[in-house]
Amino acid sequence: MSVTIDEQAFLERIQRGEKIEADEPMPDEYRQNLINLLEMQADSELSGAYGYIPWIEKAPNIHEKLLVAQIVKDEIRHAYAINKCLEELGVDVNQRIEEQDFAYRLAEDTADIGTERVKRDKRVNIFYYPIETWTDFIMFNFCMDRGAGHQLEDALDSSYGPWQRAINTIFKEEMMHVNHGDTWVEKLAKDPATRQETQEAFEKWFTRTMNIFGRPGSKRNVVYQKWHLKKRDNDEVREGYRAEIETKATQCGLKMPVWIPDYDEAV
Ligand SMILES: [Fe+2]
Ligand SMILES: [Fe+2]
Repeated sequence: MSVTIDEQAFLERIQRGEKIEADEPMPDEYRQNLINLLEMQADSELSGAYGYIPWIEKAPNIHEKLLVAQIVKDEIRHAYAINKCLEELGVDVNQRIEEQDFAYRLAEDTADIGTERVKRDKRVNIFYYPIETWTDFIMFNFCMDRGAGHQLEDALDSSYGPWQRAINTIFKEEMMHVNHGDTWVEKLAKDPATRQETQEAFEKWFTRTMNIFGRPGSKRNVVYQKWHLKKRDNDEVREGYRAEIETKATQCGLKMPVWIPDYDEAV
């Protein structure tokens, strides 16, 4: 059954700060863009969790095994919560999960794929890279969880009620992952035995994280902002991230890597 929707009235509700719920009629453009954002997040959360799993076993001590297991559980919970949002919108989430290989990782750690897509799933492409060392795992927390935090911050007041409520708890858990990274980076960067390796891992993961935010002024981002699904331009989010990580990294004695933009037009 097709429902006629007064787009202007819908937009005005959003502009007044009203939240949209799953069972309401919504303009196609709103629904499609919302589903796209949710699928990108759901796929990233699930592939993120799968990439962390081996690190329960490989973590350096029993305390860290527990912390990594907790992080895996958080990411699976995030994937579950966002997939629930998708399910309420009529998406067959289990079929999507069955069709994609979320455990897939690039074989070569040395390959830099820039903003290239590797598979048909919608994960942010940083999740295609393998985590090969404990320092990589820590840098993933330090760089990528912080980057994800900045992106989620942009959706903390999203117009879509179920997503906005889910993001609120997800955001708090992501901040715990960032803290885990911060504590370890400080330790590894200050120890002469691990300083060099930490700097190298920082260069690798910082660059990859800078590529997740998308092109400045992208047409799609303008549409997200129109519907209050996002608040800021991609570049503004990226620069907020860069400023914060620069402060942290410098405090730990790390040098900021040079980042050359390689934008993904599809984001
Ligand atoms: Fe997450
Ligand atoms: Fe996380």
